[in-house]
Amino acid sequence: MLAIIGGSGLTQLANLTVSRRIAVRTPYGEPSGPLTIGEIAGREIVFLARHGYGHTIPPHQVNYRANIWALHEQGVKEVIGVASVGGIRADMQPGVLALPDQIIDYTHDRAATLYTLEDRGVQHVDFTWPYSRDLRTRCLQAAKQAGVPIIDGGVYAATQGPRLETAAEINRLERDGAAMVGMTGMPEAILAREIGLSYAAITVVANHAAGRGGSAEAISMPHIAAILDGGMVKVRSIIEQIAGTNGR
Ligand code: HPA
Repeated sequence: MLAIIGGSGLTQLANLTVSRRIAVRTPYGEPSGPLTIGEIAGREIVFLARHGYGHTIPPHQVNYRANIWALHEQGVKEVIGVASVGGIRADMQPGVLALPDQIIDYTHDRAATLYTLEDRGVQHVDFTWPYSRDLRTRCLQAAKQAGVPIIDGGVYAATQGPRLETAAEINRLERDGAAMVGMTGMPEAILAREIGLSYAAITVVANHAAGRGGSAEAISMPHIAAILDGGMVKVRSIIEQIAGTNGR
């Protein structure tokens, strides 16, 4: 079964015919909200709003472990994390969609492993390629079929938030090789890997990163919301394609 974790701008899937909602308890506490289970194009899909259905949980306080655990426990095998980002690389213009292929993690003080329960022991999980190759390929194919342009690849820089970055921080991220910056990509991706879920991220560029382009002086939040709405319409049509053509 496929799950979608929706971020800012995607607190529900309009094209999901909801059949039930399940509140799940986990050894790591409560997920961001109940899992919404329904169908898109005849396939069962699970949806979870990362920041809660009322968008009340900031990026550093999301219970990523409970979210991933709850999805796993419901029989989910594949997860697409949808997230908004700031664009750093020149082609990452507001409104553009991307499918990152690498991550640099700048977050701190987040519960970033499932291996804290005594019965799970110490594990060092391979994370050379943080996103599932197969799921990325299917996202690309689905985007093509849906007629939605999407940039294939780019390094996702995960920052701690909730504040936005300084212009100098963005320059540093660019020197590090980052194409885009967001606050929720980690530890979500590593927790999915640890528990054996295939994971890919679809990102929507909401704004130029701090100090760049339209964000040279400041980042305007109302402007971001409008850009995100347009981007999420495209994300929904990709998800519909994945469900309809090659969902599992
Ligand atoms: N920085 C970090 N996270 C973000 C941004 C940004 O500019 N835009 C959307 N999420």
